[in-house]
Amino acid sequence: MFILAPSLLASDFANLEQEIKKVYMDGEGCEYLHLDVMDGVFVPNISFGAPVIASLRRVCPIIFDAHLMIVNPGRYVADFIDAGADIVTFHFEACEGAGEILQTIDSIKNLGKKCGISIKPGTPADVLAPYLGKVDMVLVMSVEPGFGGQKFIEGSLEKIEAIHKIKTEKNYGFDIEVDGGITLENAGKIKTAGANVVVAGSSIFGARDIGEAVKMFKRGGQSLGFPEN
Ligand code: DX5
Ligand code: ZN
Repeated sequence: MFILAPSLLASDFANLEQEIKKVYMDGEGCEYLHLDVMDGVFVPNISFGAPVIASLRRVCPIIFDAHLMIVNPGRYVADFIDAGADIVTFHFEACEGAGEILQTIDSIKNLGKKCGISIKPGTPADVLAPYLGKVDMVLVMSVEPGFGGQKFIEGSLEKIEAIHKIKTEKNYGFDIEVDGGITLENAGKIKTAGANVVVAGSSIFGARDIGEAVKMFKRGGQSLGFPEN
């Protein structure tokens, strides 16, 4: 199944409730809402934190896909889950070693939520090997994290393929999410490489008609080879 995860980072922060309604459309729209949390340390930008997510939780019923771009993410796992995150994804590079990574995975899973691990464009896929049997999702960053509106890094396709190959060989159940620079034009090849969760920020919230952009992604996705939802 192909899952669409619009990234709120590209939305109008003065009108979050209305913006969200345009993408989930009472069950007719996207499946996930992608929430980019940035601390100004792990990435050179600051976005929003748990209090904003808690407020959004009251007005939006779909799955909250929290992407933590923060150092030592384990410190805040419980806060984001209390706020309403259903999936908590943290960065491999934001942890100080295998011990911290394993602890962070455990704390997310012990709180009953799905756990994702992410790698930046410069990080090779093989660093994830020890964790692939434990996580629910692998997030491949296809731009340098920190900002929306950047160009998709083509080399990400090989990385998606490599992770998908291991997933198939070992019969792992994790999802493969891709984030950064995704458009209607390149979504098909990202899916072909093995991804099943697609994040799109500016190509959805930057569109003149946001609801139409969601429909196009879903329809375009199908004609480009995405199975129907
Ligand atoms: C970047 C974020 C992305 C971003 C994607 O650090 O993780 O989720 O919002 O935006 P686009 O789709 O515009 O590249
Ligand atoms: Zn993101």
